[in-house]
Amino acid sequence: MSDKPPLTILLCAPRGFCAGVVRAIDVVEAALKRFGPPVYVRHEIVHNRYVVDALKRKGAVFIDELDEAPDGDAPVVFSAHGVAKSVPAAAKARNLFAIDATCPLVTKVHREAEIHHKRGRRVLLIGHAGHPEVVGTMGQLPEGAVTLVETEADVPGLAAAEGEELAYVTQTTLSVDDTAGVVAALKSRFPAIHGPHKEDICYATTNRQEAVKRVAPACDGLVVVGAPNSSNSQRLREVAERAGCRVARLVQRASDIDWDEFSGLRTLGVTAGASAPEILVEEIIDAFAERYAVTVETVTTADESVFFPLPRELRDAAAE
Ligand code: F3S
Repeated sequence: MSDKPPLTILLCAPRGFCAGVVRAIDVVEAALKRFGPPVYVRHEIVHNRYVVDALKRKGAVFIDELDEAPDGDAPVVFSAHGVAKSVPAAAKARNLFAIDATCPLVTKVHREAEIHHKRGRRVLLIGHAGHPEVVGTMGQLPEGAVTLVETEADVPGLAAAEGEELAYVTQTTLSVDDTAGVVAALKSRFPAIHGPHKEDICYATTNRQEAVKRVAPACDGLVVVGAPNSSNSQRLREVAERAGCRVARLVQRASDIDWDEFSGLRTLGVTAGASAPEILVEEIIDAFAERYAVTVETVTTADESVFFPLPRELRDAAAE
């Protein structure tokens, strides 16, 4: 019999890779297969070092800005988070071969912002300043046309000119609950404000938060596998904390775990952000299994079957 203390791991489902992340990684892999290395990738293709390093080993070269890509035929891939309109325009001006790995659900938000703008509405974007998705969405419209709203506290400071129509769009990876609060504040201040027909927060963000909400009240601790710059992963940690988890931590690898914090547990929740691969979830569970007699129970709160096809120019490469 094991002398390790017992630990029940409640494994959230869904967790980890979303359809947009799978597609973005597939885009880089298919481009490498079809055109050979190097394939330049502007920005981390998805916010996960393990994924980025694996693609680097296959010949992807990550760059911060388009200027770093040399002239020539090597493809340049834009990340899942989307880019400002100026980026593909600059690629075109230099005759670069650009492949867009923007998640279609981010592109949907871009189009909404454009439509509102064309209809003469001022666009408010609910999101986090500096996040690449926010930079990309703001960059769909001319400078100054989008006003960023980060929290409910920003709403009283907003003003609309006489007769000015307003509309809001949101980042796809926000906290569902916090965003509902911001939207309610906007609607109460500007009752005629236009919003999305279907929420901009994507299905993957919503489902992962729901699973954590279900699991967290039964757990002493919860681990979110994900990167610190991953917005949806950070939100999962917050959701767990608010649901009363004594210790909720975001970790990239098992070596990040502070074992003093995770001592004396009976029940642990485990989930992963939308850009974290399953192999890292397994690594974390294995690390707990070295210290505890672990029983894993999967808690499923939604089934996901979303799939996004590759961009047309890469579909054949993927089929080969
Ligand atoms: Fe797309 Fe949502 Fe993933 S916007 S990249 S499906 S987290």
